[in-house]
Amino acid sequence: MKGVILAGGLGSRLHPLTKITNKHLLPVHSEPMIYYPIKALINAGIEDIMIVTGGNSAGDFLRLLGNGKDFGLKHVNYTYQEGEGGIADALSLVEHFADEEPICVILGDNLIEKNIRKATDEYRAQGGGAKIMLKRVHDPERFGVPELDGDKVLNIEEKPKAPKSDFAVIGIYFYDNSVFDVIRTLVPSGRGELEITDVNNHYIRRGEMTWNELDGWWTDAGTFESLLRASNLVAETGANNL
Ligand code: DAU
Repeated sequence: MKGVILAGGLGSRLHPLTKITNKHLLPVHSEPMIYYPIKALINAGIEDIMIVTGGNSAGDFLRLLGNGKDFGLKHVNYTYQEGEGGIADALSLVEHFADEEPICVILGDNLIEKNIRKATDEYRAQGGGAKIMLKRVHDPERFGVPELDGDKVLNIEEKPKAPKSDFAVIGIYFYDNSVFDVIRTLVPSGRGELEITDVNNHYIRRGEMTWNELDGWWTDAGTFESLLRASNLVAETGANNL
């Protein structure tokens, strides 16, 4: 399985912090934000990693991370997203890198307390389709929200005004190679983006979606409030614990 970290976008919700740098290079407690998803993939045994960046500071990722020596890697792959066409648009850029293999995708502003080893193993055993990860939250309207029927996910709504559950779909996804065909069928949403939620609903409709509940805390870090929360959570317990 290969790993993909999506770190494009303009981070406009964090202006002026993101006026002269990329959101994923900002500090979360003691390390740049991008370190956390890299470690999450490595903890899951995924070391063939592609980082999708964008904007004016893309070159700084190379200066910061190089070939990944600080993480025990021999090589890191990079690609560049023009504009801010959405998460699924950023993902479309890694088709060549994936090269028919399954992928684990992490949003560059998502942090976890523990690890995704169990989900990764279960997705491998699943032999195709997709897997999402869910976490109970008190503010589901900020996220993709699943409608559940027991173990089955029926549908996902992106930032619904009236959420159908108190779960968020977190920014860690597993896909087989058909994800790139799915992305080719998408049209931009109301906010002008190709939505990862639309990708996930495709798999749900095909009956090829499973989900796991994440163990330990999870947070994004894309708003002032969540960026501060992320730093505090890392200070309290550390992140990416095995
Ligand atoms: O954090 C989890 C949530 O992330 C999910 O629950 C939502 O379903 C999903 O749509 C997403 O919501 P956000 O609106 O918070 O995503 P945001 O625009 O902040 O983008 C998250 C990351 O995705 C960002 O840190 C970098 C990457 N990204 C985003 C865009 C829009 C890109 O690489 N390119 C892009 O064009």
